[in-house]
Amino acid sequence: MSEQDSGTRNVLSRRDFLKLLAAAGTALTFTPFVPWGQFMPNPSNTVLQKAQVMLPDGTQANVKTFPKNSSQVVTYPLTGDSVLDQEAFRKWQFIRLPSELGGDTEDVSAFRVYSMVCLHLWCLWKYWPQEGRKRGECPCHGSMYNPLTGKAFAGPASLQAPPSNVLATLYLEADNDGNLWFLPAKWDINVNGIIGYGRILKT
Ligand code: FES
Repeated sequence: MSEQDSGTRNVLSRRDFLKLLAAAGTALTFTPFVPWGQFMPNPSNTVLQKAQVMLPDGTQANVKTFPKNSSQVVTYPLTGDSVLDQEAFRKWQFIRLPSELGGDTEDVSAFRVYSMVCLHLWCLWKYWPQEGRKRGECPCHGSMYNPLTGKAFAGPASLQAPPSNVLATLYLEADNDGNLWFLPAKWDINVNGIIGYGRILKT
């Protein structure tokens, strides 16, 4: 099957799934036994590899230069196809934590990467660095996400049963120059999580 064919099929299945979500409404919250994860359109048809964390300005993110308490939208996995690379399911908030949450450290522990697809109804949330906020906020229905863990702490996403209250994440590695890389993701609720569905938070 060509990538275009599989892309078309994913778009259709997403639309169908969104209709299902709209029909199911809050039922999703109370049906954790349904294996929703198997229906999610994660970009699993791409072979995932270690990849540079490329910022919108075309440079590679670096632990020495990326500003504390700030975020950028990054893409993973990149395909090189400008249309596919715009998919919401490839968009991540790349966050350097504020100082009080460990953002001063010059290694990967100062950073977090979370899927931008809100766990409620798939709007795109973003990180707000302002004093008194310093959290992820979804503009649609007000779900809020803890930047340290990716766990929803307010709004409808916070009422969903695990794993659908914790965002999918990407893990990082820094090379000797401080340049940051994404480690290959595994779309599994116990590893990186499943985009738009969730992740089991390790304690
Ligand atoms: S889509 Fe409803 S809170 Fe994000």
